[in-house]
Amino acid sequence: MALTDFDLVLFGGSGDLAMRKLIPAMFARELANDLPPGARIICVARHEWGQEDFIQAVNTNAKSHIKNPGLTPELWQKFCERIVYVSLNAVDAKTYQNLKDALRPDPNLVRVYYLATPPHIFSRICHNLNEVGLATSNSRVVLEKPLGRDLASAKQINAEVGQVFSESQIFRIDHYLGKETVQNLLALRFGNVLFEPLWRREWISDVQITIAEQLGVGNRMGYYDTSGALRDMLQNHLLQLLCIVAMEPPTSIAPDAVRDAKLQVLRSLKRFTPTTLAQNVVRGQYRAGHVRGVAVPSYRDEPDAPAHSRTETFVALKAEIDSWRWAGVPFFLRTGKRMADSLAEIVVRFKTIPHSIFNQPTGSFQPNCLVIRLQPDEGLRMNLMAKTPGDGMRLKPAELELDFRETFKSPRMEAYERLLLDVLRGQLTLFMRGDELEAAWEWVEPILNNWEQEENVPLPYTSGTWGPAAASALIGRDGLQWREEALPED
Ligand code: BG6
Repeated sequence: MALTDFDLVLFGGSGDLAMRKLIPAMFARELANDLPPGARIICVARHEWGQEDFIQAVNTNAKSHIKNPGLTPELWQKFCERIVYVSLNAVDAKTYQNLKDALRPDPNLVRVYYLATPPHIFSRICHNLNEVGLATSNSRVVLEKPLGRDLASAKQINAEVGQVFSESQIFRIDHYLGKETVQNLLALRFGNVLFEPLWRREWISDVQITIAEQLGVGNRMGYYDTSGALRDMLQNHLLQLLCIVAMEPPTSIAPDAVRDAKLQVLRSLKRFTPTTLAQNVVRGQYRAGHVRGVAVPSYRDEPDAPAHSRTETFVALKAEIDSWRWAGVPFFLRTGKRMADSLAEIVVRFKTIPHSIFNQPTGSFQPNCLVIRLQPDEGLRMNLMAKTPGDGMRLKPAELELDFRETFKSPRMEAYERLLLDVLRGQLTLFMRGDELEAAWEWVEPILNNWEQEENVPLPYTSGTWGPAAASALIGRDGLQWREEALPED
């Protein structure tokens, strides 16, 4: 669907997200020749800059994040002409006149307010827009994470933003849902007959979802230390991936069909009690070590880190879903910074064969395993047992591989690019509904509460490893291993 003319307003327009992701994502659409003549990007920030100062900032900052060889001076110039800088104080309604003057009043124009700001000012911004008559029925609002820091604050955001915008105007972003492979998981499950009959407790032994990063906290300590891995990654990205893996087939790809199915998963997650929590949740904090051969400091020695910080940079847990489809199937979720590798993948492990007709014990058969790789090297891998060539009947593990880059040569789209396009077209399927957000917070809240207790501290792990040994013990209690632990040594 072609885009129609729009005013995309970026609150936090001079910030890190705008410069690193949002402006480059819009430029990628310029390169693809997707932007209509009347497409404009209105960047809003507090600095008392003029238009030229801002374009200068875009030139030095956002441009450095664009690696595309198609970036020519002419095209860049054309793109920059779409950008308008507006200086305002987001929490002060009196300054919104500047924005009003910059926006076009045409009711046929799509208008999007993207709030790339701290969440505590979301509702102030929405109310201020309303007060000056800018929260029109043709406008949409995008809320960037973190969407609250617990259930109460998420509810408050939902309620306050909901006083100004209706649910169908609110786009709660989780950029993991914009990743190609996540959407390919929908295609795999619901575009093929092969997997769905096996996609259940009778055939699946366990599911592992890992998002590992080699990066540390970098210059985001101010935010990260008040958040931690549970809030920053697990409550949103990992739970959304879990929902896509575990949901019942929705009746269609329509927003509410998909979101109802995801909500059902979130509501079926078994609640933790203090006892089950102690057994099934591990948190860690990185210590000094080596990542890719480079010495890196401990979390507590990173710039601006509180000396005695108890914030976790790693979390692993065993989740269970109380449903006919999934009862008894463990879902192991894991995320961390300063890990041994940078990767995001979903591993669906099937059960072992019930009986061997070969002269090999059933135990020597590696269970089938489907690996859905989100990044890097997006693709699918299926482990099978196959006969080794030659005389005799010896079976060995072999792999079927679908490499998305090799198979589909068409240009990739960054997650933010895809999601911005969806916002501009008004497609809500890949965005969280308010009740989903609250259900996710509700499930993690007992963990947050437990970790507040003084005596509960994260376990140390050496940077460049796969986290504390307790994470291996966690999965080991079910007689299982994390995928990298089960792989043969190179
Ligand atoms: C963000 C988190 O949501 O996701 C970051 O705030 C994290 O801490 C990032 O680094 C990871 O995203 P990606 O797409 O690089 O895997």
